[in-house]
Amino acid sequence: MSASIRTAVIPAAGLGTRFLPATKAIPKEMLPLVDKPSIQYVVEEAVRAGIGDICVITSRNKAAIEDHFDRSVELEHALEASGKDALLGLVRDIADLAEVWTVRQGTPNGLGHAVGCARGHVGDGGFAVLLPDDIMHPSSTALSRMIEVHEEHDGAAVIAFMEVSDEEISLYGCADATPIGGDVVRLDGIVEKPAADEAPSNLAVMGRYVFPADIFDAIDKTPPGKGGEIQLTDAIAQLAAEGRAYGVVVEGGRFDAGNKNDYLRATVELALEHPELGEAFAETLRQIVRERDLT
Ligand code: G1P
Repeated sequence: MSASIRTAVIPAAGLGTRFLPATKAIPKEMLPLVDKPSIQYVVEEAVRAGIGDICVITSRNKAAIEDHFDRSVELEHALEASGKDALLGLVRDIADLAEVWTVRQGTPNGLGHAVGCARGHVGDGGFAVLLPDDIMHPSSTALSRMIEVHEEHDGAAVIAFMEVSDEEISLYGCADATPIGGDVVRLDGIVEKPAADEAPSNLAVMGRYVFPADIFDAIDKTPPGKGGEIQLTDAIAQLAAEGRAYGVVVEGGRFDAGNKNDYLRATVELALEHPELGEAFAETLRQIVRERDLT
């Protein structure tokens, strides 16, 4: 368990257009995976890595995120009065999970800009960034491993990478990297969503980052990039050029909650592993496959 990284920034200011109409009035991050909003998995992941201070970057229509991590006195009273102690515990535990703060991103200028909005909250220390479209399996130790590598390399930036196919690489940030032992690579460069034939590797940025506070200066110096937005990847490229960025290659344990099909897959996989629902749901799934002849 690390003492060096105490804050996690979760950029959650996007409009969630890929999930319309579900996200017309509800933040995308509040869509449930089985019985928990997806952002709760992300906060729990940070807490497991020893991080108790969470800064969520929000925008308009995101109040439900704040409400979710706050006390709900009325609900607690009602559950208490009706003797629903297990549910009461569940609801209280969410508010006790971590200190959750929100900072508004006034204008949607891209992921780099969103992370830059956390500067006042983060201050001078290192911090983690967790993109809530990427959900890690509850058994994943990737974030703790990244913090370890950050400490071993004098507080350098550490990015999580996964291997993807040639067809998929243009959807991700992509590493130009040199293996330096075990699961660690040195970043010689990094490029946001390259065309398949221009990608320096098949290592894709996975939505987990550990940064020194100097990433904020790099963000300030980053001109608009891909899509006319301030890209976090371009700010990381500056640290990579100074020899201050590394990668950890993570195998498995990631669910994509960023588009409808992958979201459904994440829901099914997590439902199958759910301690109370898993067995019954597996039977339901077998039934559906039989009835619809999907084998
Ligand atoms: C963002 C980042 C990209 C990263 C991806 C991971 O892209 O810009 O570098 O690979 O998250 O999920 P987005 O998926 O938000 O377009």
